[in-house]
Amino acid sequence: MSELKKIQTTDGHRIDCTIPDGETDVIDASYLMLFPALIDPHVHFRTPGAEYKEDWTTASKAAIRGGVTTVLDMPNNSPSCSTIFTLDAKEELVQKQLLEAKIPLRHAFYLGADKRHLQEIPQLSHRVAGLKIYMGSSTGELLVDDPSALLDAFQICAENDLLVAVHAEDEALLKERGELYSGRSDPAVHSKIRSPEVAAIAVEQAIRLAEKTKARLYIAHVSSSAELALIRAAKKQGLAVYAETTPHHLFLDESAYETLGTLALVNPPLRSKKEQEALWEAIHDETIDTIGTDHAPHTLEEKKKPYGSAPSGFPSIEFYFPLLLNAYAEKRLSLEQIVSLTHTRPQEIFRLPLNDDIVAVDLEIERTIEASMIRSKAGWSPYLGRTLKGWPIYTACQGRLFDLAKL
Ligand code: DOR
Ligand code: ZN
Repeated sequence: MSELKKIQTTDGHRIDCTIPDGETDVIDASYLMLFPALIDPHVHFRTPGAEYKEDWTTASKAAIRGGVTTVLDMPNNSPSCSTIFTLDAKEELVQKQLLEAKIPLRHAFYLGADKRHLQEIPQLSHRVAGLKIYMGSSTGELLVDDPSALLDAFQICAENDLLVAVHAEDEALLKERGELYSGRSDPAVHSKIRSPEVAAIAVEQAIRLAEKTKARLYIAHVSSSAELALIRAAKKQGLAVYAETTPHHLFLDESAYETLGTLALVNPPLRSKKEQEALWEAIHDETIDTIGTDHAPHTLEEKKKPYGSAPSGFPSIEFYFPLLLNAYAEKRLSLEQIVSLTHTRPQEIFRLPLNDDIVAVDLEIERTIEASMIRSKAGWSPYLGRTLKGWPIYTACQGRLFDLAKL
């Protein structure tokens, strides 16, 4: 039995806390602050089908180093996770990888909406975090853009009390704008093609479907003021509509194309500083409920391909919590807001069982992000070189205590 003692909670109380762990001795945590471990409602850990980009042996370490003990994994695998068969096969592979890593990372999977398999949803609704609908194409083959299939999917989810999670970008407008800008090959055109309007049209459609069917709706990676206005109105109307944003939309903007080139590609894309400010306001007025990393690793070699061939997405679950703690140091967020965005709201929205996993944080320590801190197979981060104040030091997951300096 080891002890993590004299821990200060976020409301200023000092408590003694004992964590069973055969491997460690008494830890002096008197300088650390205790947080409930983070829940990341949006990750792409790439199993099955793209294990060369990431798998759960590497991603689970990256998660624990970021203070995350629960992840909800997306279905855009190869094959897509959209049937009983693919869900079972994925669970088996993931269990094996976690056993190999010796990390009991809590997890659930989204089921991918595929209009040929919607009839399997009722049998699976109790086993998955939600139904993920790609309303516009992104990485992978999942796409539902015809209105009648969308209505069916929302209806089935409502009947089975399953959360609908959407990647809200309008496929038709996306294609139209792709053609409009077809002469350009600089990566910044990505933000022009996938404009805020492309996202807002799909958000509007999803909200109307939620209103009509009474399905609970989770809007992933909200990135613009136009989407926020629609979500604010839906919440005011009393609809069960929830909004997620990402670290990259909060901490990177479209000026990153100049420094990162094609590495800065992500769907939905990086936006202007003005749009970014709107996201911060929406955190403060609670229009935004959660932050999901959208940890979406691709190799550096793939990311460096020319525009048109380079894939979209960022790794960086390792830096999810430090980025937010640094925002606290800069007085942009309170500790209570961090706990709400990364723990309480995801726990409530996804109805996850309560647990006593914790992260012990040194709020004073400053570190500069280096490649040696990365555990993701991707091996790179858009945040390399940033100095952040506030880092997790220990993470306890299902009774196991991880000293992050040794993981
Ligand atoms: O940029 C993205 N990358 N957006 C997505 O929707 C998917 C993700 C991925 O899986 O690579
Ligand atoms: Zn994603």
